[in-house]
Amino acid sequence: MEDIPAYDPGRPTAELASDLGLDRIIELAANECPSPPFPEVQAAVAAALATINRYPLSNADYLVESLADLYDIAPDRFWVGPGSTSILTSIALSTSGPGTSVVFGNPSFVVYRMASLLAGAEPLAIPLDGAWRLDPEGMAAAVRPDTAVVYYCNPNNPTGTHSSEADIRRLVELVPDSVTIVFDEAYAEYVDAADYSSAIPLTNDHDNVIVSRTFSKVYGLAGMRVGYAIGDPATIRALRRPQAPYATGTLAQVAAIEALKHQDLVARRVESNAAGRTFLAQQLRQLDQSVIDSQTNFVLWEPSEDPALLAAELLQSGVMMRPMGPWIRVTVGTEDDNARAIEMISQVL
Ligand SMILES: Cc1ncc(COP(=O)(O)O)c(C=O)c1O
Repeated sequence: MEDIPAYDPGRPTAELASDLGLDRIIELAANECPSPPFPEVQAAVAAALATINRYPLSNADYLVESLADLYDIAPDRFWVGPGSTSILTSIALSTSGPGTSVVFGNPSFVVYRMASLLAGAEPLAIPLDGAWRLDPEGMAAAVRPDTAVVYYCNPNNPTGTHSSEADIRRLVELVPDSVTIVFDEAYAEYVDAADYSSAIPLTNDHDNVIVSRTFSKVYGLAGMRVGYAIGDPATIRALRRPQAPYATGTLAQVAAIEALKHQDLVARRVESNAAGRTFLAQQLRQLDQSVIDSQTNFVLWEPSEDPALLAAELLQSGVMMRPMGPWIRVTVGTEDDNARAIEMISQVL
């Protein structure tokens, strides 16, 4: 266990703010939704509080019904879990073990490596292509006879880039059916590229294909911990075995059900996110920074100065972003937060 890198969530923001003598830190480090949950969601959660002496529905039956209605997909093709991270981890535990390998992109979401190591499998991190996109052919070529899972993050965290429908179809064609392919679509709602397609339709013809999604991003429920996957019913029954009973709390289920009812508000969030990411990218470029075009709620840029130092100085001035190797990843915030972030970046640079 000591060899498995632990996820580093950073220090509690309130503690950091008080240490730095700041009233507030603008949090642009964790790709969260910058606005609070919809008022209707808050009311539904408040109303459900009186029931939490009971265990939740273990299979999140009502949330599954809501998802089935929204997507027009049979309920037995859904799997709800306490955050999509738990689903991704469950998949590694159910499919992989010593003597197997797991393929994912590099850089991509850190949980794939952690989950592979937890399962005892060998992680195979495959470099992105020259345009910072996942490389479907390279990843398919990396699949070995002992490969159990391919994690494909579309769009990809931390680069924000997406793969086209043709690319994901190619991946599914090239990878043997014995390998579970997980399309992690945590940021799918934010995409506006015309050549993007969710992999959900592919789950109909390929029982080895699973799509994971989350309520932590556009639905603004990161603190609730709720996500879901879509796929072949028998595959899902097998993959979910490592999940503890009653894993997704009652309040999380209630919040997600209510949030799904407000697709009009979700659409507005998507619009303001798109405006915010365009603003951040344009302003960073005006400051002569190198920026990767994003389809998500964050922007990855390669600063002209040392990223760790720059991020540390930005934090001193009350703006938190995540330094990652040669880059900094900045989450799209509210209009005011984005403006403030650019102002501080400009000053600190
Ligand atoms: C690619 C990706 N998948 C999944 C998650 C986590 O989702 P959840 O909050 O549902 O565990 C994140 C969170 O940052 C992510 O970037």
